[in-house]
Amino acid sequence: MQEILVIGSSNTDMVMSVDEIPVPGQTVIGGNFRVFGGGKGANQAIAARRAGGRVKFLFSVGNDPFGEAALRSMRREDIDITHALVLDGAPSGVALIFVDARGENCIGVAPGANARLSPGYLEQHAAIFANAAFLLLQLEIPIAAVSCAAGLARAHAVPVILNPAPAAPIPDDVLRGLFCMTPNESEAEQLSGLRVTDTRSAEQAADVLLGRGVQNVIITMGGNGALLKGAAGLHHEPAPAVEVVDTTAAGDTFNGVLAATLAEGLGLHDAMRVAVRAASLSVTRRGATDSIPRREDYRT
Ligand code: RIB
Repeated sequence: MQEILVIGSSNTDMVMSVDEIPVPGQTVIGGNFRVFGGGKGANQAIAARRAGGRVKFLFSVGNDPFGEAALRSMRREDIDITHALVLDGAPSGVALIFVDARGENCIGVAPGANARLSPGYLEQHAAIFANAAFLLLQLEIPIAAVSCAAGLARAHAVPVILNPAPAAPIPDDVLRGLFCMTPNESEAEQLSGLRVTDTRSAEQAADVLLGRGVQNVIITMGGNGALLKGAAGLHHEPAPAVEVVDTTAAGDTFNGVLAATLAEGLGLHDAMRVAVRAASLSVTRRGATDSIPRREDYRT
């Protein structure tokens, strides 16, 4: 099987359960506090690996206990981290997360070492693009690094999947020619300027992004599944009804599984069906990396 290259963030997630997410100025007494592995890049690398993909993950951590734990957890998953960057003088990334009684979350990230992943470092290691079937990117590293990675992928004819999370302005040179972009509803709203409330409005938001040169757009819509529009056609994939306990890393599960399933040779519609099932399962479990299911859990 060909390799999935993930370039992105790694965080340690500090998670508190609360009935309601506090508003500014409010103090709430929460329930359980737990620490999980996280970061959108790390979560997606693990989702792709647990889906059966061969995964290389390029990321950056500090030379500290959180960084060591992140490196250990990637090795445990049998993910190739030969090109991970361990930095002296920068703390590893940390995310503070509230999860409410409905399983919805609110996240603040201190990027630390993630913010130090530079285009220069990627150019130095450009050889890693030669064996990649797909490149999977998110927006928790500097946009200059994202742009450089997309350019190197283009030069090596590697299709790119960009999960634009958290939403941020994206230069046209990154969007042009992207194989697939996977915003959730709120990211699609921020990127298209249109409100996304249902499949019809998702289709309109997808049209805006397709107009910027992206080949395929998949908008993930939580309990409403996902909508694909683009070169691969128009398709709505419904999600199975599940009991939601924590939505953290559902999007990451979707993206990692999508990439691994495409790398296996399945088409976008089939890969999307598998990814929706995997993401639906992840929301029934707590935490980020801890909630990511394995292939045997959703492929029978
Ligand atoms: O997508 C979920 C992730 O977002 C969390 O693991 C947290 O680290 C933030 O990066």
